[in-house]
Amino acid sequence: MPKNFTTAKAHPNIAFIKYWGNADQNLRLPANASISMNLSELETVTKIAFLPDQSSHLLKINGILQDTEHTSRVATYLESVRNLYAFQGSLAIESHNNFPMGAGIASSASAFAALAVALNDLLELNLPQSGISALARLGSGSACRSIPAGFTVWEKGRTHLDSFAATFAPPDHWELRDIILIVAAEEKAVGSTQGHALADTSPYQSVRVHDAKRRLEICRRAILNKDFNKLAWIIEQDSDMMHAVMMTSRPPINYWQPASIAIMQKVRDLRKNGIACAYTLDAGPNVHVITLATDQTKVINAFKGFPGLQDMYISNIGAGAQVIP
Ligand code: DP6
Repeated sequence: MPKNFTTAKAHPNIAFIKYWGNADQNLRLPANASISMNLSELETVTKIAFLPDQSSHLLKINGILQDTEHTSRVATYLESVRNLYAFQGSLAIESHNNFPMGAGIASSASAFAALAVALNDLLELNLPQSGISALARLGSGSACRSIPAGFTVWEKGRTHLDSFAATFAPPDHWELRDIILIVAAEEKAVGSTQGHALADTSPYQSVRVHDAKRRLEICRRAILNKDFNKLAWIIEQDSDMMHAVMMTSRPPINYWQPASIAIMQKVRDLRKNGIACAYTLDAGPNVHVITLATDQTKVINAFKGFPGLQDMYISNIGAGAQVIP
């Protein structure tokens, strides 16, 4: 008997080699391949159910019913899913994040990853993991990397079905930690979707994309060989290159704030003094400090009371997205 509802859970991820710019904006086929790790301590849990007598979808986030404006991205996504895998009726979607929405931590990756897993189950699509990852990508590119577990690589692919992420090292491969330093909690002025569309207006984007394979291989090998120093310089270079593209787009996007820059400088100083740590920033001012479990306390102590720091989240490496009974 078909199910009436299903619930799924997914973690957000932090990119080490960034996805920025699309080869196909509608299908979210990326300009370059990327690498990330899932964050176990942060999660989105999403329950979906059929609404047989309703013409529009309902979306609740953290218990609050969203208006049409906030539902439109999800509604557009569900229409593209409907085009691929015909289904009847509308859906009620209830999503909960265990991290505050206004905390400046991107929730679209875990949100669309949980939704894709739930849709695969409720609609009985029986997709393999690669197909679920591709389905999540249509909602938010980076969501495809939250489907498989641990350290994942998203090969760019040329068509919908061959652009997906897969695990290249499991969560327990290496005891890395992500210490997320929040310097601004409000929603960013330019979202990623808008930013991707501007990437090609920067003369640096072609250089960044052309060099992406080299950075990706160095990063993948550094993770597989547990070589922290190599990982540190390649993720910092990759993050800086993406932000250089952002800053030189037309119009320019400046995500860094004075506190972000001060933190990056401090991370480099700590590393010079023998503490394993490296920074990476997504499309926002908050800094992810990647460190080893053995150095976690030193990094946390170094940033306690740091000027401009509003909050701190600490995460281990997460599992893949899954249905929960
Ligand atoms: C800077 O996946 O959020 O975090 O596909 O438009 O939802 P959409 O974009 P999104 O872009 C992520 C950009 C990034 C880098 C990364 O996670 O690789």
